[in-house]
Amino acid sequence: MAAPLIDPFGRAISYLRVSVTDRCDFRCRYCMSESMTFLPRDQVLSFEEIDRLASAFIRRGLRKLRLTGGEPLVRRGIIDLVQSLGRHVRSGALEELTLTTNGSQLARFAGDLAAAGVRRINVSLDTLDAEKFAHITRWGRLEQVLGGIAAAREAGLHVKLNMVALAGLNEDEIVPMLAFAAAHGHDLTLIETMPMGEIDEDRTDRYLPLSRVRAGLAQRFTLTDLPERTGGPARYLRIEETGQKLGLITPLTHNFCESCNRVRLTATGRLFMCLGQDDQADLRSVIRGSSDDAALDAALVEAIGRKPRGHDFEIARAAPAVARHMSVTGG
Ligand code: GTP
Ligand code: 5AD
Ligand code: SF4
Repeated sequence: MAAPLIDPFGRAISYLRVSVTDRCDFRCRYCMSESMTFLPRDQVLSFEEIDRLASAFIRRGLRKLRLTGGEPLVRRGIIDLVQSLGRHVRSGALEELTLTTNGSQLARFAGDLAAAGVRRINVSLDTLDAEKFAHITRWGRLEQVLGGIAAAREAGLHVKLNMVALAGLNEDEIVPMLAFAAAHGHDLTLIETMPMGEIDEDRTDRYLPLSRVRAGLAQRFTLTDLPERTGGPARYLRIEETGQKLGLITPLTHNFCESCNRVRLTATGRLFMCLGQDDQADLRSVIRGSSDDAALDAALVEAIGRKPRGHDFEIARAAPAVARHMSVTGG
């Protein structure tokens, strides 16, 4: 194996997030505007191209690969890609091949994902109230997602629920969501909304700092900070009364950039070194321009050499911190 990719701040890059499509069958209000336009298909990387790029990172010591979107499971033939990438898990080159999904297609795909070597997935679930679910996603059906989560469980996949904390929308549902997660053996992570891309409403209206959520929980429960990290951005605490672990992703109130280990590839082959910055490297041109993997490797080294210290998200600004939407890089 070649030397690991190390950025200018000494952080080793061991985690690649690959957005396989910018398309999604939902339009969550904090994520997209209702009138989103999507990329023409010819601009999107083929599975062979994604595989080639992923392999280049793996030769440089990548340990974790996450497929995202948009919604990754709406990309046609996605299971073929998962099966092909699964060989790196079977060979021991990758520790984890996983996905972040909205759950809408899981009833159909959970078994195939498990068979392809996926062990754990993250599913976005912001509410357990069907009406609110339809409101947040604009037309999603809660029942379909709950059915998908159940199918994932039955297929033996470990499910982590991601809940974006939304003031006035789901803040009263955090304790019920904890109970739902406990009842079904799921982990739960709460996320602060990040100012990415124009949406149809004012983000400040829905911003809920997790410091406030934590203070509320501390009035009802005994909370203990846990030292563990899972290679992602979450910090964890334990609720002593239930023994449950709760993840908190706090880009706004407590940023975690100093331990960042990840970069993200868009569906069009651009590598973003930071979720909250605009700088990117066009890897599609590199791979379409040459079949020489040495040129690709050099491009990776050059790109990682430009990874910034961190984001400067701020919720109270009039314009979003970055113009692109979360769905371009899948978080
Ligand atoms: P685990 O492997 O389970 O720890 O997952 P993860 O948190 O790495 O991935 P997931 O796709 O579930 O992401 C959860 C949330 O974290 C999403 O809202 C992402 O946008 C956000 N997130 C992931 N990486 C970063 C990051 O580097 N910076 C910021 N600000 N947010 C991130
Ligand atoms: N801020 C925070 N999280 C977001 N997600 C989508 N858009 C945003 C945003 N602006 C979440 C989704 C999903 C994960 C990939 O990112 O709910 O769980
Ligand atoms: Fe789709 Fe996820 Fe964005 Fe919702 S948050 S619109 S499910 S990509």
